Amino acid sequence: MKTLIMYATKSGTTKKCSDKLAELIPDTIICNFREKPKNIEQFPNIILGSYVRMNKIDHSLVRFMKKYSGILIEKKVGVFVCCLSKDEPSQIMKKIIPETLRKGINRFESFGGELDLSKLNGMYKIIMKAMIENPDTGVQTEYEIDESAIKSFAEYFLC
Ligand SMILES: Cc1cc2nc3c(=O)[nH]c(=O)nc-3n(C[C@H](O)[C@H](O)[C@H](O)COP(=O)(O)O)c2cc1C
Repeated sequence: MKTLIMYATKSGTTKKCSDKLAELIPDTIICNFREKPKNIEQFPNIILGSYVRMNKIDHSLVRFMKKYSGILIEKKVGVFVCCLSKDEPSQIMKKIIPETLRKGINRFESFGGELDLSKLNGMYKIIMKAMIENPDTGVQTEYEIDESAIKSFAEYFLC
């Protein structure tokens, strides 16, 4: 196996995008951050994915990057997020990834996102409706998974 994809998801979109990546990148293993961690030494490529909520990624991704920074420096490291922000990926990265960790990332991408308001509980539904309706939050009113971003991200790990 050449590529390890580790992901964190709340409502399934980041898992869906991890599966799509694995279809495009041969020799890939997918692992939820909640599962027993794999021995990362054996993988030349490490891909880390997370949802974004309240301008934050899942803490397990940050923790992982800090814990294994000495090993990750020798690897091809990609980070992707699923979110509704209309900002450029470089802007999103600056907002959500601590500066000290950014230099360890070879490729960063936003894959867009999905949101089913009917599945959110009361408080989250109110917050998300307000975010979508307020143009200052930078959240898109129409959103979907960006298949072309997934494809170009995957291509980086093919060579
Ligand atoms: C409570 C909540 C907060 C969110 N906050 C943000 C946010 O700050 N920025 C953003 O771009 N998207 C935000 N989103 C949208 C999610 O990033 C999007 O739904 C994503 O696809 C979720 O991925 P997941 O299904 O893997 O959890 C939020 C969604 C929810 C439900």
